Amino acid sequence: MLTQYYTASSIDGFIADPDNSLSWLLTRDIDKDGPMSYDSFIADVGAICMGATTYQWILDNDPDNWAYDMPCWVFTHRQFPETAHDIRFTTTPVPEVHAAMVEAAAGKNVWVVGGGDLAGQFADHGLLDEIWAQYAPVVLGDGAPLLPRRVELELLGVERNRDFACARYRVVR
Ligand SMILES: NC(=O)c1ccc[n+]([C@@H]2O[C@H](COP(=O)([O-])OP(=O)(O)OC[C@H]3O[C@@H](n4cnc5c(N)ncnc54)[C@H](OP(=O)(O)O)[C@@H]3O)[C@@H](O)[C@H]2O)c1
Repeated sequence: MLTQYYTASSIDGFIADPDNSLSWLLTRDIDKDGPMSYDSFIADVGAICMGATTYQWILDNDPDNWAYDMPCWVFTHRQFPETAHDIRFTTTPVPEVHAAMVEAAAGKNVWVVGGGDLAGQFADHGLLDEIWAQYAPVVLGDGAPLLPRRVELELLGVERNRDFACARYRVVR
């Protein structure tokens, strides 16, 4: 069981532009069956979590296509509309939520969807094992940061998937 932060990024380390837009990302070419693809990654994931801004992005942009059949924890102080999906809105400390996610995942991996500070909170508690970053060929200059902390990493592998330079790192504790 690994706790992984899998995300796309600009090469200067932003996962959304200053308007919280992913237009710079969603227009790119990727092979769904290629190296480090989303489909192969998600197949091993048993529980996910995300921050409120990421969840709001989904509600604003793709509300009818909730793509996850595993439980999802959304860290937030906001009131979101009720949902039929298995979504648990929480202000519980990260270590307690992580323990619940590991239990729910039943041996599969735990995915921190984002944003970057939430992944950083997992790292602060020594709970983040890996970062998988898919770098799109763009420099954004500003936006939501990939992971606004100093975290030491070991490069485990690199692959090209069409437009993307994909890197997998182990968090060095
Ligand atoms: N490129 C990609 O693949 C990718 C992946 C994921 C996300 N994104 C995008 O990147 C952007 C990320 O936004 P973001 O950096 O603002 O991050 P975020 O993690 O999505 O949301 C941050 C918010 O989550 C809540 N939160 C975080 N930690 C919490 C905690 N411990 N307890 C309770 N609430 C907590 C807070 O909101 P409240 O206190 O207001 O509730 C905080 O302002 C979004 O636009 C998203 O769509 C891109």
